[in-house]
Amino acid sequence: MAVQHTSAPAHSVAQAPIAQPLWWLQPLTVVAVLGGFSGYAFWSVVVAPSGYEFGNYLSPFYSPLIQLGFWPFSPAILIAGFPLLFRATCYYYRKAYYRSFFWDPPSCAIAELGSAKSKAAYRGESRFPLVLLNFHRFFLYAALVVVAFLWVDAARGFIFDGRLGLGLGSIVLLVNVVLLTAYTFSCHSLRHLVGGGLDCFSCSRARYSFWQMLSRINPNHGMFAWFSLFSVVAADLYVRLLSAGILTDLRFF
Ligand code: FES
Repeated sequence: MAVQHTSAPAHSVAQAPIAQPLWWLQPLTVVAVLGGFSGYAFWSVVVAPSGYEFGNYLSPFYSPLIQLGFWPFSPAILIAGFPLLFRATCYYYRKAYYRSFFWDPPSCAIAELGSAKSKAAYRGESRFPLVLLNFHRFFLYAALVVVAFLWVDAARGFIFDGRLGLGLGSIVLLVNVVLLTAYTFSCHSLRHLVGGGLDCFSCSRARYSFWQMLSRINPNHGMFAWFSLFSVVAADLYVRLLSAGILTDLRFF
């Protein structure tokens, strides 16, 4: 018996774009936050090379602190580029700024910018300059080293005149390094580095266990990306405000 289809197949129906009220709010917020962070990071790293240290507290933009006698510029320039490029080439941030800054596309069901000609010429990340984003894995190696130094700085934040202590700055630096570690260890490149290229997980139990651990935090990478962005600025600002005498560190013991 012939079967009668009462509705046309889905692919034959022209789908009208679904109107999304306030769709522009998310890209606008991303532009404001990423633009604000970039401006602040530039000011802290390049324009204001003083006030980045207060007692046992060191701004994360300046860690590890490299002071060369012949270097007339901010010491942060020697080091901050690596974690900043790690962030700039992050797969999660790429999605965020492609949508928000390049409107490529800005949101679901919203047309992307650009003429048909420019779209036809688009080669994604296989051509210069976007192909440089593939260096992400190398910035990851540098970021892992920087995170190790930040843990040392966070530990130093608990030592006051050779004795164990606790100040609000100790907590600020500790929270920051925890969030940065979560951001770095939830990186897609690191997960691939640990678990990729293996044909047999049971042949490498250590890598498999580590990969499982990374896979648990990896789905939250976007959240850690935003939280750690704010925590870096908060830690730098807190140290600077102490250094400028505007704030007094709250000491618990
Ligand atoms: S994918 Fe975001 S830091 Fe690697």
